[in-house]
Amino acid sequence: MCGIIGYAGSGNAGEIIYDGLLRLEYRGYDSAGIAVLSNGKTEIVKSAGRVEKLNTSAQLLGGNVGIGHTRWATHGKPDDKNAHPHRSGRITVVHNGEIENYAELKKQLAASGERFLSETDSEVIPCLINRFYGGNLLEAAIKCAKMLNGSYAFLAMCDGCEEIVAAKFRSPVIVGQGENCAYCSSDEPALAGKCPTLYILEDGDFAVITKSSVKIFDENMRPVNRAPVINSAGEQSLALCGYPHYMIKELWEAPAAVKNTLSAFAGVEAEARAAFAGADRVIFTGCGTAYHAALLGKRYFCELAGIPAEAEYAGELRYNGIQGGKKTVLVAVTQSGETADTVEAARLYKNSGAAVLAVTNCPHSAIARIATLTVPVCAGPEICVAATKSYSAQIAALAAMALSVSGGKRQIDTDCAPALISQTLQDIDIYALAEMCARARGVYFMGRGIDYAVALEGSLKLKEVSYIAGGGYPSGELKHGTLALIDGTTLSVFIICDGELAAKSMDAVEQTLSRGGMAAVLTTLPEVQRQFARRAEVISLPECNKYLSPLVSAAALQLLAYRVAVVLGRDPDKPRNLAKSVTVE
Ligand code: G6P
Repeated sequence: MCGIIGYAGSGNAGEIIYDGLLRLEYRGYDSAGIAVLSNGKTEIVKSAGRVEKLNTSAQLLGGNVGIGHTRWATHGKPDDKNAHPHRSGRITVVHNGEIENYAELKKQLAASGERFLSETDSEVIPCLINRFYGGNLLEAAIKCAKMLNGSYAFLAMCDGCEEIVAAKFRSPVIVGQGENCAYCSSDEPALAGKCPTLYILEDGDFAVITKSSVKIFDENMRPVNRAPVINSAGEQSLALCGYPHYMIKELWEAPAAVKNTLSAFAGVEAEARAAFAGADRVIFTGCGTAYHAALLGKRYFCELAGIPAEAEYAGELRYNGIQGGKKTVLVAVTQSGETADTVEAARLYKNSGAAVLAVTNCPHSAIARIATLTVPVCAGPEICVAATKSYSAQIAALAAMALSVSGGKRQIDTDCAPALISQTLQDIDIYALAEMCARARGVYFMGRGIDYAVALEGSLKLKEVSYIAGGGYPSGELKHGTLALIDGTTLSVFIICDGELAAKSMDAVEQTLSRGGMAAVLTTLPEVQRQFARRAEVISLPECNKYLSPLVSAAALQLLAYRVAVVLGRDPDKPRNLAKSVTVE
C-alpha cells in the first residue's frame, strides 16, 4: 500500500532509491517517483506505471540525498500528475496513508492562495510544511502532522538542506544507519543488505536522517530512544533464483515455511495455551487470505480443541457492536502485520482487556507491538501480492495451536505436512484444469467444513491473478442460488477432503453434472476419485489426515491459479489494482 524510501549518504541517491523502490513495488505499482537534492535544488522524476519506467531517468539524477515512492492509488487516478513526490515551495514529500481531512485542508489552503496540481490527499502535506517552514524542517513537519487526521508515513525534504524528516502515524516507517549513510523505508526487505540494524518508529515519532546520523524525536522535539532490531530480511530471499515469477518460487517455499513455523511454535506454546485458559469467547480475524486462514483456525479450535470459536473479517469485527473484554481471546492473522483493519481490530480488543494473539510473518510489525503474544509464522519475505506460503504457514501455526490447546486430547502428526505439500506440487497434473478455467465464463469453488474454507481461498487466488469472475460457496448452498449460474460455460471446482462430509459434496457434483455444468474435483479420498474418474476433471491429492488436507488442497489451488495466470498472460506477482500490504481502511 504505497512504498516510501529515503536515503542520505555519499552514494548516487537516484540509483539507490530506484533499487529500493523495486523492492517495495509489491506495496503498490500504479506510479513511481524519485526526488533527489542536486546542488541544493530538488530534481524530480515521476511517471504513471511501474518503477522500471524510471530506470533511465533515475540514473541521470545527480545527488546524495533523496526520497522515492511507489503508489497504490487511493485519491486520484494513477497518472503522472498524481504520482509522488509532491512539491510546494522548497518542500518535497512522499506519503503512504490516507489524510481523512484533506478536502477541508485543501479548501482552507486554496482560500489562502495555494494552487494544487494533483487530486491526491497527500499534496496538502508539502503545502502545510512549506507554510510552517522557518528554517527547521523537523519543526515544520511536526506542525503539519498536528493538522492531519488519518494515517501517514511521510518523508519530507527541503531545498538546500541535506536531511530527510520522516513522520509516522498508523502507517509503517523504519529507519537505519548503513556505512556512511542512513535510510528510511516502509519495510525491512527494502533495506536488506544495507542496514544490519533498524529502528521501528512508533505512532507519533519523527526521525531526522542525515549521512552521519539517525535521530528520533517525539512531537515536542524531544529525543526518543527506540530499541534497535536486527534486520532479518536477507537479499537472497528477494531474488527470483531462476523462477519466472515470485508466486511459483514462493509456492515451492511453502514446505520450508510450514516446517519452520511448526518448530517455532514450540517457543510460544506454553504462553499460547495459557492465553486460552478461562476464555469464554475466542474470535479469529484477518483480511483476504489471512481471513481464510482465520476460518480454518475457527474450525480447528471447534473440532480439535473443542472450544467454541468464531471468525469474522477484521473490517467487520470492528463495527459489530461487541468489543471483547477480559475473557475474550482475539487471534489476529496477518502476513504483514500492517493491514489497517486487522491492526485496528487488535487495538480495539486489546484496549477492551482481551488477550490478542498475533499470528504474523513480520515480528516487528504494528500488530506484533500491540499483541499480548506473537505466534510466529516463519515464511520469510513474501513478494508476490497473492499470498501462498504465508497462508500455508498460518494454517500450520493455527493447527499446532489448536492441537496444543486440546491438551493432548487430539493428536495429529504434523511432521509430515511439509512433505505432503512437496508431493502435491510435484505430482499433480493441473494443466488441463488450468485450460478449463481459462476458457470458463465463471469458476465456482465449493466444499464443506474445512473444505469450504479452502474453497474460499481457491476462489480468491484465482480471481486475484487471473481476473476470472467466480466465488466460493459451501457446497450445500449450491442448490440455494449458485445452481442458477451453472451451464456449459461455467466450471465448478469441488474440494472434497473431509471423509465425513464427502457424500454431501459428491451430491453437489452430481447436481452440477446433471445440469450440464463442467465440474472438477480435487480430493484426497480414493473413493471420490473413483466415483468421478470419467465424468469430471479429477485432481488426485495425497491421502492425509483431514486436518492437514487444507495444506494439500491449498497448494493445488495455488498452483492452479498460477497456471491459469500464465495461460492467460497475466502477471501473477502484481495483479492489477491490488497491493500486498493494505495500510488504509
Ligand atoms: C491484501 C493482499 C492479500 C492479503 C490481504 C491481507 O489484500 O493482496 O494477499 O491476504 O491483504 O494481508 P495481511 O498482510 O494482513 O495478511
